[in-house]
Amino acid sequence: MLAGKRIVLGVSGGIAAYKAIEVCRRLVDAGAHVIPVLTEGARHFVGATTFSALASEPVQTSLWNEVDPIPHTRLGQGADLVLVCPATARLLADLAGGRSHDLLTATLLATRAPVVVCPAMHTEMWEHPAVQDNLALLVRRGVHVVPPEEGRLAGGDVGAGRLAAPETVVAAVEAALAEPDLSGLTVLVTAGGTREPIDPVRFLGNRSSGKQGHALAAEAATRGAKVTLVTTAGLPVPAGVEVVRVDTAAQMEAAVTERAAAADVIVMAAAVADFRPAAPAVEKIKKHHGVPELRLEPTPDILAGLGAAKRPDQTLVGFAAETSDVRASAHEKLARKGADLVVANDVGAPGAGFEHDTNQVVIVRSDGLDEDVPLGGKRAVARAVFDAVLDHRVTSADRRPRDSI
Ligand code: C5P
Repeated sequence: MLAGKRIVLGVSGGIAAYKAIEVCRRLVDAGAHVIPVLTEGARHFVGATTFSALASEPVQTSLWNEVDPIPHTRLGQGADLVLVCPATARLLADLAGGRSHDLLTATLLATRAPVVVCPAMHTEMWEHPAVQDNLALLVRRGVHVVPPEEGRLAGGDVGAGRLAAPETVVAAVEAALAEPDLSGLTVLVTAGGTREPIDPVRFLGNRSSGKQGHALAAEAATRGAKVTLVTTAGLPVPAGVEVVRVDTAAQMEAAVTERAAAADVIVMAAAVADFRPAAPAVEKIKKHHGVPELRLEPTPDILAGLGAAKRPDQTLVGFAAETSDVRASAHEKLARKGADLVVANDVGAPGAGFEHDTNQVVIVRSDGLDEDVPLGGKRAVARAVFDAVLDHRVTSADRRPRDSI
């Protein structure tokens, strides 16, 4: 999504300017073309050379140079997005008031591209009515604001005003650039492997990391969906996603069942245990009591239950981890569980499946329009899954009788 996008990275003069270096690096790593613009204040906090070394073009700082008489219009008109990170109280006031006294403020006035600002300042300044009024005005004008977090501030103070984490800033940039093609849809995603207790300290688990499910939730939120993520994984919660933490298959079933009726799309990416200890011990099982006998019982099949109760306008996506006959097994699972799509991967293939940051899948569909997704990041796989979901919703709506649409 960021590949090839021209992003002007404006850095204004706050102590958090050093964190913009990490943001710059992440944007470049994601394929963006980053042009850093530092205010005079920013240069008191960070070295321009660092940005020049990491960004796609050298730092620009001045409206006045020998080469380009109008750098602000070139920057503003050429940008796909202008990001201000950190944004000081003064920068927000300048933008709200339409003042242009340096290269960054002039560029902000000379652009029609989306603008993302990341305020960072001391709590007293952040909470000042003047700052809040300026922000409210900017939001009304369509500026995207990445709110600061609570935490340690310069000088040892603690409170609201700390610059948002680099991954939050990058997610906001992606969201501002994304086509909101899932807006209006409520999406429910499950992630991670369930843990079925043997006793209070031991469990039966599996190797699922939850990374693919979290990437799916992030992708759906970025594309404008209202997303709930039911997860067993302790991974960071993607921006804008409501999270429900669970542990066992029974807890996951309860959380999913409660929310299923309201969902337009349900993606069961979790690796749910098929069996659980029938009678978990209340006390820790003692080693000196000998090798225990574990009697197992089946867990509820959440996906099959959702498939049986599915509305025609709902899209149900299952996941299948296979070690052989991937496509055929996925088609069999699709039919047996009443799903619309099954995302299947060969967990034995190099770079695919559990714990990796990459995945390689085949998406099989009830309308027969199967698709091989080449090895790529889990976010890229998530993108392909939601593209397929949208496409499937169009083809299945076309086939449904008019009165059921
Ligand atoms: O049958 P199998 O476990 O291979 O199916 C995998 C798919 O079914 C996944 O989408 C998984 O989330 C879902 N599943 C479930 N409840 C279970 C087992 C699997 O929803 N008890």
